[in-house]
Amino acid sequence: MSEPYLFFHGITKRFGDTEVVAPFFDLKIAHNEFVVFLGPSGCGKTTLMRMVGGLEMPTTGQILLEGELAGPPDRRRGMVFQSYSSFPWLTLAENVAYGMRYRGDLSAEEKRERCSHYLEMVGLADFADAYPNRVSGGMRQRVAIARTLAAGSEVLLMDEPFGALDAQRRERLQAELRKIHRRDAKTVVFVTHDVEEAVFLADRIIVFSRRPARMLADLDVLSILGPDRPISLRDEERFFRLRTEVLQMVRAAAGDDE
Ligand SMILES: Nc1ncnc2c1ncn2[C@@H]1O[C@H](COP(=O)(O)OP(=O)(O)OP(=O)(O)O)[C@@H](O)[C@H]1O
Ligand SMILES: [Mg+2]
Repeated sequence: MSEPYLFFHGITKRFGDTEVVAPFFDLKIAHNEFVVFLGPSGCGKTTLMRMVGGLEMPTTGQILLEGELAGPPDRRRGMVFQSYSSFPWLTLAENVAYGMRYRGDLSAEEKRERCSHYLEMVGLADFADAYPNRVSGGMRQRVAIARTLAAGSEVLLMDEPFGALDAQRRERLQAELRKIHRRDAKTVVFVTHDVEEAVFLADRIIVFSRRPARMLADLDVLSILGPDRPISLRDEERFFRLRTEVLQMVRAAAGDDE
């Protein structure tokens, strides 16, 4: 890899006495790569994402985006949080449109179109004018996903974005996300506990140890499964062979009590 697009350089992180990331975590992510962070609960995945998003500072080391310090949040990085709260005083459509507030390059008409397109994609077209307190948690999570996709950030930071969704919707959105990544050349960092989701989505899976998070494996999924991920891939033998392999790795990482 020449200059990495996103570079975790010598990162450690402590909260008081709690060591969350150690020792000196290094990771290089290329432009347009889809990287999945997979690891046991509480190991530090969200903390790492928040550092990339500029919401948390590493204790040592630096996070570099195209060679420059990542710094405070900006529109290049779009985040979907693990527990997202939408703005209750805005309708679902207005919540999605909020993500595009800095997109001076888009006309009002284009923004309306993008808004409808992404609401449709997440299955909320009929709820555009509803307020968040009138819809379920899973639907609010889908609004968050639509909002981040509509904003069109270069880097998508997604922290268990599909956790609250039913299995079918989840599969569909996974396939959509993979398509968006391919079509729009997005760099994606995606956190999940779910091995099947990780294998389906990833170009590369980073397996973490228990806290403090260390990198246990860096798996090149792209060379095994290729870039196209149709839903039918799940029925193929190479898919479940890889899934089993990763599952065993994750079990070993979590220890006996998980
Ligand atoms: N602001 C904070 N202050 C103190 N401790 C924190 C803070 N944020 C996170 N931690 C601790 O850091 C550790 C890692 O938390 P983090 O949320 O990054 O884990 P995670 O891998 O995302 O877990 P999960 O899979 O359950 O979401 C936990 O022990 C957590 O209690
Ligand atoms: Mg988390």
